[in-house]
Amino acid sequence: MINDLWYKNAILYCLSVGTYMDANGDGIGDFTGLMRRLDYLHGLGITAIWLMPFQVSPQRDDGYDVADYYGVDPRYGTLGDFVEFTHAAEQRGIRVLIDLVVNHTSNEHPWFKEARRDPHSKYRDWYVWSKKKPANANTGMVFPGVQKSTWSYDEQAKAWYFHRFYEFQPDLNTSHPEVQAEILKIMGFWIQLGVSGFRMDAVPFIIATKGPDVRKPEEQYDMLRMFREFLQWRQGDAIVLAEANVLPDTDMEYFGDDGDRMHMMFNFQVNQHLFYALAAADTRPLVKALKATKPRPATAQWGLFLRNHDELDLGRLTEEERQIVFAAFGPKKEMQLYDRGIRRRLAPMLDGDQRRLELAYSLLFTLPGTPVIRYGDEIGMGDDLSLPERNCARTPMQWSNEPQGGFTKSEKPRLPVISGGPYGYEHINAAIQRRHPESMLNWTERIIRMRKEVPEVGWGDFTVIPTRDPAVLVMRYDWRNNWVLFVHNFDAKPREVTFSVGLDGDNAGYGKQLVNLLAEDHSRADDSGKHRLIIEAYGYRWYRVGGLDYLLRRTEVDAPLHAKTG
Ligand code: GLC
Ligand code: CA
Repeated sequence: MINDLWYKNAILYCLSVGTYMDANGDGIGDFTGLMRRLDYLHGLGITAIWLMPFQVSPQRDDGYDVADYYGVDPRYGTLGDFVEFTHAAEQRGIRVLIDLVVNHTSNEHPWFKEARRDPHSKYRDWYVWSKKKPANANTGMVFPGVQKSTWSYDEQAKAWYFHRFYEFQPDLNTSHPEVQAEILKIMGFWIQLGVSGFRMDAVPFIIATKGPDVRKPEEQYDMLRMFREFLQWRQGDAIVLAEANVLPDTDMEYFGDDGDRMHMMFNFQVNQHLFYALAAADTRPLVKALKATKPRPATAQWGLFLRNHDELDLGRLTEEERQIVFAAFGPKKEMQLYDRGIRRRLAPMLDGDQRRLELAYSLLFTLPGTPVIRYGDEIGMGDDLSLPERNCARTPMQWSNEPQGGFTKSEKPRLPVISGGPYGYEHINAAIQRRHPESMLNWTERIIRMRKEVPEVGWGDFTVIPTRDPAVLVMRYDWRNNWVLFVHNFDAKPREVTFSVGLDGDNAGYGKQLVNLLAEDHSRADDSGKHRLIIEAYGYRWYRVGGLDYLLRRTEVDAPLHAKTG
């Protein structure tokens, strides 16, 4: 296969325009500000941006409540500014994915207003109604503790409407052909304005059957193929990155057996077990999650992440595992959310310990998939637990130690900049970290640079190498006659591990030499072919197997070098 599916080996960076940089001084980030920071992002080495919702919205769920799919919220700028931004990104070789939030609209969307007002309006059927209160109205809430039901009564319509999320986010009737056509139209619109695809919000809910009589929603997977077909026709390299927190045995339904559905999905299974491994220094459940999510079509890719803009959902862990993660990373009630997760940022969860942050990020960059970095994590930003729900981890980017962290000239940003304390902008900011070679920011820049030279992670096949020590994860990737090997020690204590690289036949000899890509300590196997490493607390190693002549040995196709015939 040709290796130019850009998303298979991208470095994705997720940000929201409202908290990145405010150029016009009204306290809200805007596209002009973001555009001025593209050189920073280019320097960091990221290759794609995932932009959170920026369309017209009453902003009751940070823009995930859209009131006009075809316009930029005036707070962030104009459509003209948006196109300037996608153009400027393209000039730097950076692709832009945008959030596509079509499971629901805002209740202030003209479609919903029309639907409420007039039972004969064509928009009535674009939403999901019931004359009587459905029996299951108090089940299936996505935000338990905050959201009270999934059906609410509308006085004007004199009927109940369905909302999987907050009551101000009425669900679209996504089975309706006209709604589907509109979704395609929205995609086509933004594609035309320079985006390379979409992070599709809440995919399992978009494709689920909805209605007062639906006891057990069923997924209509064909819709996924329809989205893909449309996109590929309009623009061959455009993709969908699905937000679908589903169990591994349904992954292939989302990717499609022939790779004909979603191009990418976030790997929630690995995410949750990765945090367990970090909390417990026990990699066994993580290894299981890696193996369970291994099957996928060659053209599909996982999006890997540490923290995102939502809570860290721990719902897939066992009760015991979950309690271990809560105890380690979110022991106080105020750190937890929706009875299932932790709402903090990564750095405070890991006590701001750079060794642990590097370990976590080294994993993010070496587990199978495309890494997704959350803005601010590259400088170890903290959270503000005085803000409600998930807002605590959505504070403005900290650029410098100037007023408001250099985010705005306004004295009152919409969300406060974190100031004072160990994570305040006075200490944690991009400008200071630029000056220190060992800072998190410069470390991230270097690791991204190296990751780009290790395409094996995105394209290759992985093997977990047994070590008999659950605190240490050793993985090898094979691709086109090249191999890399990564070692991660999750423990707070140094560990000694022994393993063999596991190459056989003609290649066995290469496995005797491991060249460290990040430091000077290389490893030679002993006479029995085994490597013995002492790896410090939270240590990590990136090795090339065999030597640095790998590019001279790389093959054009991924077949065994001496394939036997007949
Ligand atoms: C997704 C988003 C979340 C949002 C919700 C409703 O889960 O990640 O931030 O609140 O959808 O659109
Ligand atoms: Ca502004």
